[in-house]
Amino acid sequence: MNELVERRNREYREFIEKYLKNYFLPFRKLPQKQLFEAMDYSLNAGGKRLRPILTMEFCRLCCGDWRRAAPFASAVEMIHTYSLIHDDLPCMDNDDFRRGRPTNHKVYGEAMAILAGDALLTDAFTVAASQKLDDPGMLALGIGVLGENAGSLGMVGGQVLDISSETRQLTEQEVLDIQSRKTGALINAACVLGVIAGGGGEAKIAAAAQYAAGIGLAFQIRDDMLDVIGTAEEMGKGVGTDAAKNTFVKLYGLETCEKLVQKYTELAIQALDVFEDTEYLIALARELTGRTV
Ligand code: IPE
Ligand code: IPE
Ligand code: MG
Ligand code: MG
Ligand code: MG
Repeated sequence: MNELVERRNREYREFIEKYLKNYFLPFRKLPQKQLFEAMDYSLNAGGKRLRPILTMEFCRLCCGDWRRAAPFASAVEMIHTYSLIHDDLPCMDNDDFRRGRPTNHKVYGEAMAILAGDALLTDAFTVAASQKLDDPGMLALGIGVLGENAGSLGMVGGQVLDISSETRQLTEQEVLDIQSRKTGALINAACVLGVIAGGGGEAKIAAAAQYAAGIGLAFQIRDDMLDVIGTAEEMGKGVGTDAAKNTFVKLYGLETCEKLVQKYTELAIQALDVFEDTEYLIALARELTGRTV
Protein backbone atom coordinates (compact mmCIF):
# COMPACT_ATOMS: atom_id res chain seq x y z
CA MET A 1 0.00 0.00 0.00
CA ASN A 2 1.09 3.58 -0.66
CA GLU A 3 3.11 4.66 2.37
CA LEU A 4 1.36 8.01 2.83
CA VAL A 5 -2.08 6.40 2.62
CA GLU A 6 -1.12 3.70 5.08
CA ARG A 7 0.34 6.12 7.61
CA ARG A 8 -2.46 8.68 7.49
CA ASN A 9 -5.21 6.03 7.46
CA ARG A 10 -3.72 4.54 10.60
CA GLU A 11 -3.52 7.91 12.32
CA TYR A 12 -7.13 8.81 11.46
CA ARG A 13 -8.41 5.33 12.31
CA GLU A 14 -6.78 5.23 15.73
CA PHE A 15 -8.10 8.67 16.58
CA ILE A 16 -11.70 8.04 15.53
CA GLU A 17 -11.84 4.59 17.13
CA LYS A 18 -10.86 6.07 20.46
CA TYR A 19 -13.52 8.74 20.04
CA LEU A 20 -16.21 6.17 19.18
CA LYS A 21 -15.20 3.94 22.08
CA ASN A 22 -15.38 6.83 24.54
CA TYR A 23 -18.87 7.64 23.37
CA PHE A 24 -20.23 4.56 25.17
CA LEU A 25 -18.23 4.78 28.37
CA PRO A 26 -20.67 6.90 30.40
CA PHE A 27 -23.65 4.71 29.39
CA ARG A 28 -22.45 1.24 30.27
CA LYS A 29 -24.22 1.04 33.62
CA LEU A 30 -27.62 2.32 32.48
CA PRO A 31 -30.60 -0.10 32.63
CA GLN A 32 -30.67 -0.29 28.81
CA LYS A 33 -27.05 -1.45 28.82
CA GLN A 34 -27.84 -4.29 26.42
CA LEU A 35 -28.66 -1.70 23.80
CA PHE A 36 -25.28 -0.02 24.24
CA GLU A 37 -23.60 -3.40 24.09
CA ALA A 38 -25.30 -4.17 20.77
CA MET A 39 -24.41 -0.72 19.37
CA ASP A 40 -20.82 -1.06 20.54
CA TYR A 41 -20.57 -4.60 19.12
CA SER A 42 -21.02 -3.38 15.53
CA LEU A 43 -19.57 0.11 15.82
CA ASN A 44 -16.34 -1.04 17.39
CA ALA A 45 -15.84 -4.17 15.33
CA GLY A 46 -13.27 -2.60 13.04
CA GLY A 47 -14.22 -1.74 9.51
CA LYS A 48 -12.16 0.40 7.18
CA ARG A 49 -13.46 3.71 8.62
CA LEU A 50 -13.36 5.17 5.12
CA ARG A 51 -16.11 7.71 5.77
CA PRO A 52 -14.65 9.32 8.91
CA ILE A 53 -11.23 9.24 7.24
CA LEU A 54 -12.68 11.29 4.38
CA THR A 55 -14.31 13.75 6.76
CA MET A 56 -11.06 14.33 8.64
CA GLU A 57 -9.01 14.64 5.47
CA PHE A 58 -11.31 17.22 3.87
CA CYS A 59 -11.26 19.13 7.14
CA ARG A 60 -7.46 19.01 7.10
CA LEU A 61 -7.38 20.32 3.53
CA CYS A 62 -9.53 23.29 4.57
CA CYS A 63 -7.98 24.29 7.90
CA GLY A 64 -5.15 21.94 8.89
CA ASP A 65 -6.74 20.87 12.19
CA TRP A 66 -8.45 17.57 11.26
CA ARG A 67 -9.12 16.53 14.88
CA ARG A 68 -11.82 19.17 15.16
CA ALA A 69 -13.99 17.18 12.70
CA ALA A 70 -14.43 14.28 15.18
CA PRO A 71 -18.17 14.82 15.86
CA PHE A 72 -19.14 14.98 12.18
CA ALA A 73 -16.79 12.10 11.32
CA SER A 74 -18.22 9.91 14.10
CA ALA A 75 -21.79 10.74 13.17
CA VAL A 76 -21.26 9.51 9.61
CA GLU A 77 -19.64 6.29 10.85
CA MET A 78 -22.52 5.71 13.29
CA ILE A 79 -25.05 6.09 10.47
CA HIS A 80 -22.99 3.85 8.19
CA THR A 81 -22.83 1.18 10.94
CA TYR A 82 -26.58 1.34 11.50
CA SER A 83 -27.08 0.92 7.74
CA LEU A 84 -24.96 -2.24 7.83
CA ILE A 85 -26.86 -3.72 10.81
CA HIS A 86 -30.18 -3.20 9.06
CA ASP A 87 -28.79 -4.26 5.64
CA ASP A 88 -27.83 -7.64 7.13
CA LEU A 89 -31.23 -8.41 8.66
CA PRO A 90 -33.09 -11.51 7.42
CA CYS A 91 -35.75 -9.27 5.82
CA MET A 92 -33.03 -7.39 3.89
CA ASP A 93 -29.84 -9.15 2.64
CA ASN A 94 -30.01 -11.88 5.27
CA ASP A 95 -26.29 -12.05 6.01
CA ASP A 96 -24.63 -13.89 8.91
CA PHE A 97 -21.18 -12.34 8.94
CA ARG A 98 -20.02 -8.70 9.14
CA ARG A 99 -16.77 -6.99 10.04
CA GLY A 100 -15.30 -10.36 10.87
CA ARG A 101 -18.02 -11.32 13.34
CA PRO A 102 -21.49 -12.83 13.36
CA THR A 103 -24.00 -10.14 12.35
CA ASN A 104 -25.70 -8.08 15.02
CA HIS A 105 -29.04 -9.91 14.84
CA LYS A 106 -27.27 -13.28 15.08
CA VAL A 107 -25.88 -12.25 18.48
CA TYR A 108 -28.56 -9.99 19.94
CA GLY A 109 -31.69 -11.06 18.04
CA GLU A 110 -33.63 -9.12 15.44
CA ALA A 111 -35.47 -6.77 17.78
CA MET A 112 -32.27 -5.59 19.48
CA ALA A 113 -30.47 -5.30 16.12
CA ILE A 114 -33.22 -3.06 14.79
CA LEU A 115 -33.14 -0.97 17.96
CA ALA A 116 -29.34 -0.75 17.97
CA GLY A 117 -29.58 0.56 14.41
CA ASP A 118 -32.31 3.03 15.39
CA ALA A 119 -30.22 4.28 18.29
CA LEU A 120 -27.03 4.65 16.24
CA LEU A 121 -28.95 6.66 13.64
CA THR A 122 -30.62 8.90 16.17
CA ASP A 123 -27.59 9.38 18.41
CA ALA A 124 -25.56 10.28 15.34
CA PHE A 125 -27.50 13.52 15.13
CA THR A 126 -26.84 14.30 18.79
CA VAL A 127 -23.14 13.74 18.16
CA ALA A 128 -23.20 15.82 14.95
CA ALA A 129 -24.93 18.66 16.80
CA SER A 130 -21.90 18.91 19.11
CA GLN A 131 -19.65 19.84 16.17
CA LYS A 132 -17.83 23.11 16.84
CA LEU A 133 -17.62 25.46 13.86
CA ASP A 134 -16.03 28.88 13.36
CA ASP A 135 -19.35 29.99 11.88
CA PRO A 136 -22.03 28.34 14.07
CA GLY A 137 -24.57 29.20 11.36
CA MET A 138 -23.03 26.41 9.28
CA LEU A 139 -24.18 23.75 11.76
CA ALA A 140 -27.69 23.73 10.31
CA LEU A 141 -26.22 23.16 6.86
CA GLY A 142 -24.12 20.26 8.14
CA ILE A 143 -27.02 18.59 9.92
CA GLY A 144 -29.14 19.04 6.80
CA VAL A 145 -26.45 17.45 4.62
CA LEU A 146 -26.30 14.48 6.99
CA GLY A 147 -30.08 13.98 7.10
CA GLU A 148 -30.57 14.38 3.38
CA ASN A 149 -27.83 11.91 2.48
CA ALA A 150 -28.88 9.34 5.07
CA GLY A 151 -32.62 9.51 4.53
CA SER A 152 -35.34 8.88 1.96
CA LEU A 153 -33.55 10.80 -0.80
CA GLY A 154 -30.19 9.26 0.01
CA MET A 155 -29.07 5.95 1.53
CA VAL A 156 -32.48 4.69 2.66
CA GLY A 157 -33.97 5.60 -0.72
CA GLY A 158 -31.18 3.67 -2.43
CA GLN A 159 -31.72 0.63 -0.22
CA VAL A 160 -35.42 0.64 -1.16
CA LEU A 161 -34.58 0.74 -4.88
CA ASP A 162 -31.98 -1.98 -4.31
CA ILE A 163 -34.32 -4.47 -2.64
CA SER A 164 -37.30 -3.73 -4.88
CA SER A 165 -35.44 -4.26 -8.14
CA GLU A 166 -34.33 -7.85 -7.75
CA THR A 167 -37.01 -9.28 -10.01
CA ARG A 168 -36.21 -7.36 -13.22
CA GLN A 169 -33.22 -6.31 -15.29
CA LEU A 170 -32.31 -2.65 -14.75
CA THR A 171 -30.77 -0.14 -17.13
CA GLU A 172 -27.32 1.33 -16.51
CA GLN A 173 -28.93 4.59 -15.43
CA GLU A 174 -31.12 2.82 -12.89
CA VAL A 175 -28.17 0.92 -11.41
CA LEU A 176 -26.16 4.17 -11.25
CA ASP A 177 -29.04 5.81 -9.41
CA ILE A 178 -29.28 2.98 -6.85
CA GLN A 179 -25.56 2.91 -6.20
CA SER A 180 -25.11 6.64 -5.92
CA ARG A 181 -27.88 6.70 -3.32
CA LYS A 182 -27.29 3.56 -1.28
CA THR A 183 -23.51 4.04 -1.04
CA GLY A 184 -22.58 7.34 -2.68
CA ALA A 185 -24.83 9.47 -0.51
CA LEU A 186 -23.11 8.73 2.82
CA ILE A 187 -19.70 9.14 1.19
CA ASN A 188 -20.94 12.48 -0.09
CA ALA A 189 -21.97 13.47 3.44
CA ALA A 190 -18.57 12.40 4.77
CA CYS A 191 -16.64 14.57 2.32
CA VAL A 192 -18.91 17.61 2.45
CA LEU A 193 -19.07 17.58 6.27
CA GLY A 194 -15.28 17.58 6.33
CA VAL A 195 -15.23 20.80 4.31
CA ILE A 196 -17.89 22.36 6.55
CA ALA A 197 -15.97 21.34 9.70
CA GLY A 198 -12.87 22.97 8.23
CA GLY A 199 -14.66 26.21 7.37
CA GLY A 200 -14.43 25.73 3.58
CA GLY A 201 -16.86 27.59 1.31
CA GLU A 202 -19.14 26.75 -1.61
CA ALA A 203 -16.49 25.92 -4.21
CA LYS A 204 -14.79 23.45 -1.87
CA ILE A 205 -18.13 21.89 -0.88
CA ALA A 206 -18.97 21.38 -4.56
CA ALA A 207 -15.54 19.87 -5.27
CA ALA A 208 -15.81 17.51 -2.27
CA ALA A 209 -19.25 16.40 -3.49
CA GLN A 210 -17.85 15.71 -6.95
CA TYR A 211 -14.93 13.70 -5.55
CA ALA A 212 -17.41 11.74 -3.39
CA ALA A 213 -19.66 11.00 -6.37
CA GLY A 214 -16.74 9.45 -8.26
CA ILE A 215 -15.23 7.41 -5.45
CA GLY A 216 -18.71 6.44 -4.21
CA LEU A 217 -19.56 4.77 -7.52
CA ALA A 218 -16.12 3.21 -7.82
CA PHE A 219 -16.41 1.93 -4.23
CA GLN A 220 -19.77 0.20 -4.76
CA ILE A 221 -18.76 -1.28 -8.13
CA ARG A 222 -15.65 -2.69 -6.42
CA ASP A 223 -17.88 -3.96 -3.58
CA ASP A 224 -20.02 -5.80 -6.13
CA MET A 225 -16.89 -7.22 -7.81
CA LEU A 226 -15.60 -8.42 -4.45
CA ASP A 227 -18.90 -10.19 -3.83
CA VAL A 228 -17.78 -12.37 -6.78
CA ILE A 229 -13.97 -12.43 -6.55
CA GLY A 230 -13.34 -11.63 -2.88
CA THR A 231 -12.92 -13.98 0.06
CA ALA A 232 -15.07 -13.90 3.19
CA GLU A 233 -11.92 -14.19 5.26
CA GLU A 234 -10.42 -10.96 3.92
CA MET A 235 -13.69 -9.04 3.57
CA GLY A 236 -14.99 -10.01 7.02
CA LYS A 237 -18.43 -10.53 5.46
CA GLY A 238 -20.13 -13.19 3.37
CA VAL A 239 -19.41 -13.26 -0.37
CA GLY A 240 -21.61 -14.46 -3.22
CA THR A 241 -24.63 -13.22 -1.32
CA ASP A 242 -25.69 -10.54 -3.85
CA ALA A 243 -26.03 -12.85 -6.85
CA ALA A 244 -29.70 -11.93 -7.30
CA LYS A 245 -29.00 -8.20 -7.12
CA ASN A 246 -28.85 -5.76 -10.02
CA THR A 247 -25.21 -4.80 -9.96
CA PHE A 248 -22.76 -3.58 -12.58
CA VAL A 249 -21.16 -7.00 -12.46
CA LYS A 250 -24.45 -8.49 -13.57
CA LEU A 251 -24.90 -5.84 -16.28
CA TYR A 252 -21.41 -5.80 -17.78
CA GLY A 253 -19.22 -8.49 -16.21
CA LEU A 254 -16.04 -8.16 -14.21
CA GLU A 255 -13.71 -6.85 -16.91
CA THR A 256 -15.85 -3.84 -17.79
CA CYS A 257 -16.41 -3.20 -14.09
CA GLU A 258 -12.67 -2.96 -13.60
CA LYS A 259 -12.57 -0.22 -16.26
CA LEU A 260 -15.56 1.58 -14.75
CA VAL A 261 -13.86 1.64 -11.33
CA GLN A 262 -10.83 3.30 -12.96
CA LYS A 263 -13.01 5.74 -14.89
CA TYR A 264 -15.00 6.97 -11.89
CA THR A 265 -11.85 7.17 -9.78
CA GLU A 266 -10.11 9.41 -12.31
CA LEU A 267 -13.24 11.59 -12.54
CA ALA A 268 -13.15 11.93 -8.76
CA ILE A 269 -9.50 12.96 -8.81
CA GLN A 270 -10.19 15.67 -11.40
CA ALA A 271 -12.52 17.37 -8.92
CA LEU A 272 -9.69 18.09 -6.48
CA ASP A 273 -8.14 21.05 -8.33
CA VAL A 274 -9.54 23.65 -5.93
CA PHE A 275 -7.54 22.13 -3.06
CA GLU A 276 -3.82 22.14 -2.37
CA ASP A 277 -1.94 19.16 -0.92
CA THR A 278 -4.17 16.50 -2.47
CA GLU A 279 -1.52 13.80 -2.81
CA TYR A 280 -3.14 11.65 -0.12
CA LEU A 281 -6.70 11.88 -1.49
CA ILE A 282 -5.47 11.02 -4.97
CA ALA A 283 -3.49 8.04 -3.70
CA LEU A 284 -6.38 6.92 -1.47
CA ALA A 285 -8.82 6.91 -4.41
CA ARG A 286 -6.37 4.85 -6.49
CA GLU A 287 -5.69 2.42 -3.61
CA LEU A 288 -9.43 1.79 -3.28
CA THR A 289 -9.68 0.62 -6.89
CA GLY A 290 -7.70 -2.52 -6.12
CA ARG A 291 -8.91 -3.11 -2.57
CA THR A 292 -9.55 -6.68 -1.44
CA VAL A 293 -11.16 -5.67 1.87
C1 IPE B 1 -19.88 -1.79 3.10
O1 IPE B 1 -19.16 -0.63 3.39
C2 IPE B 1 -21.19 -1.43 2.53
C3 IPE B 1 -21.10 -0.64 1.31
C4 IPE B 1 -21.58 0.53 1.23
C5 IPE B 1 -20.50 -1.22 0.13
P1 IPE B 1 -17.63 -0.72 3.77
O2 IPE B 1 -16.93 -1.59 2.78
O3 IPE B 1 -17.09 0.66 3.94
O4 IPE B 1 -17.67 -1.47 5.16
P2 IPE B 1 -16.78 -1.31 6.46
O5 IPE B 1 -17.17 -0.01 7.10
O6 IPE B 1 -15.33 -1.31 6.03
O7 IPE B 1 -17.11 -2.49 7.32
C1 IPE C 1 -25.20 -1.91 1.15
O1 IPE C 1 -24.81 -2.45 -0.05
C2 IPE C 1 -25.13 -0.47 1.20
C3 IPE C 1 -25.70 0.00 2.49
C4 IPE C 1 -26.39 1.06 2.52
C5 IPE C 1 -25.49 -0.74 3.73
P1 IPE C 1 -24.49 -4.02 0.06
O2 IPE C 1 -25.68 -4.77 0.53
O3 IPE C 1 -23.87 -4.44 -1.22
O4 IPE C 1 -23.38 -4.01 1.22
P2 IPE C 1 -22.69 -5.31 1.79
O5 IPE C 1 -22.05 -6.01 0.60
O6 IPE C 1 -23.73 -6.11 2.46
O7 IPE C 1 -21.64 -4.75 2.72
MG1 MG D 1 -27.75 -4.56 0.56
MG1 MG E 1 -25.66 -6.37 2.01
MG1 MG F 1 -22.19 -5.78 -1.34
